[in-house]
Amino acid sequence: MKILFLDQSGKPGGAELCLIDIAKPYRDRSLVGLFADGDFKTLLQQNQIPVEVLTTKPIQVKKQSNLFQALASFQQLIPLLIKVVKIAKKYDLIYANTQKALVIGALASVLSRRPLVYHLHDILSLEHFSPINLRVAVTLANTFASLVIANSQASQTAFTQAGGKAEITAIVYNGFASKNYQIPEAEIKQIQQELDLESKFVIGHFSRIAPWKGQHILIAALAKCPPQVTAILVGDALFGEQNYAQELHQQVKTLGLENRVKFLGFRADIPQLMSACNIVTHTSTAPEPFGRVIVEAMLCGTPVIAAKAGGAMELVEHGVNGFLTTPGDSKELAKVINTCREEIEITATIANNARNIASQRFDIATINQQIAQLLSSGN
Ligand code: UDP
Ligand code: GLC
Repeated sequence: MKILFLDQSGKPGGAELCLIDIAKPYRDRSLVGLFADGDFKTLLQQNQIPVEVLTTKPIQVKKQSNLFQALASFQQLIPLLIKVVKIAKKYDLIYANTQKALVIGALASVLSRRPLVYHLHDILSLEHFSPINLRVAVTLANTFASLVIANSQASQTAFTQAGGKAEITAIVYNGFASKNYQIPEAEIKQIQQELDLESKFVIGHFSRIAPWKGQHILIAALAKCPPQVTAILVGDALFGEQNYAQELHQQVKTLGLENRVKFLGFRADIPQLMSACNIVTHTSTAPEPFGRVIVEAMLCGTPVIAAKAGGAMELVEHGVNGFLTTPGDSKELAKVINTCREEIEITATIANNARNIASQRFDIATINQQIAQLLSSGN
């Protein structure tokens, strides 16, 4: 099957990293079309996946835009739409991986008479989107998509609650190659040395810097932990959240944690870094649609504490393969961190369980088979 994948982002967020794994089996006969240039393009190229940047003009619709802004931005999409229609005629299927890709993909699917699949990586709720953006996404998916692949039960439920047709949906979790997360002891030691983490109890946070990812919750929790507990914050402000990044630095200063928090920016060596941590925390204050970092920590064998909402609740069973805490509650987070420090053996058993379960449940080959089956049966 020849697939035209569409994604609005030039930057490698979770939805984009997921797309690399999905597009790879089709790379000899497919194209990824992007609506922005950037590091994501380079990553696709490194994976020998054909990629074309279809526009370099920023598309102005924001997640919280109103009707007027949405309509105004529509005009600027026309040249992009014409280009996509022309390309789509050479492919069997359009696969939209983000919301703006859905808008263009839906119209292009009508004009090129190609079926449309929408991979839903978001929780379509008012916590994450404006009412108009929600309505546009659900209406376009209902009207034009033959299949909506939701990245979790939570994303699927939000979609149907917003009016999406349940019968066109299927849930497919993100897949991972577990061998990429088995890091030799020597490499772990080396990274611990480089980052001066030896003899410290290290908490890792691996998310792009954005208010709803809740890095401030971890910093607040750290202040309630003993001094040998330190944190590394890995990730960059990918989508313009510079103010929040500054607030985090200020919070660290105010709490006197300068020697206990390291901001590492965006890193490509996530498995190595996660393996060098004693615990990975996930602290999203709004429901996480899926949460790749949670599964990645599990595959590294590092105990994970996740915020109890959205997709995270499908990934973590408290006390079995990880820990769940109330979103936004730094006191509870500190308490669980301290329990993990004290109950080393139980925590290690839980992390071990998590690794075994995750390597089966999120196996990339199985997930890719599920997708292949869905694509061939539905289109
Ligand atoms: N990630 C990365 N480098 C960083 C920070 C994060 O490669 O510095 C990766 C991380 O390993 C994960 C993805 O970015 O695979 C984030 O996906 P997730 O689903 O956790 O959150 P999203 O940002 O998509 O909401
Ligand atoms: C989105 C979601 C994240 C999910 C990722 C991959 O970026 O925010 O929760 O893990 O897509 O599906």
